[in-house]
Amino acid sequence: MKKFVSSLITFLVFITHNGLANDAKILIKKNGCLACHSVKLKVLGPSFIDIAKKYENNISNQQILAQKIKKGGSGNWGNIPMMSHPNITNDELNLMVRWILDL
Ligand code: HEC
Repeated sequence: MKKFVSSLITFLVFITHNGLANDAKILIKKNGCLACHSVKLKVLGPSFIDIAKKYENNISNQQILAQKIKKGGSGNWGNIPMMSHPNITNDELNLMVRWILDL
């Protein structure tokens, strides 16, 4: 029984984790991020992998980056600015940022 419960928990953690990752990917597509970003290659903006390398995945970086996406930012990666995305909710921003920093 113990074994059953622990494999059930592993399974639930597995599907929740994958569900969140899928939601993040859908949000990134839906919000047009891929016009300027890709996971591995620099487009107009830095690749998500490079962003994950530059910032440690912790709460304070998550908040800083979520606000940068919301308000727009420039000067960290070059001269091209990122425009603001005022209509994305904080929950959605957090989900996307956590997914990016987890790469
Ligand atoms: C119009 C092009 C464009 C779009 C659309 C765009 N970005 Fe960016 N993004 C950039 C550029 C350019 C930079 C680099 C800005 C800089 O140098 O500070 C950037 C930087 C970032 C950074 C790193 C910020 C930093 O300060 O290091 C993150 C995280 C990010 N973008 C996520 C996103 C997400 C998520 C979306 C979709 C909601 C998105 N971007 C949409 C162009 C874009």
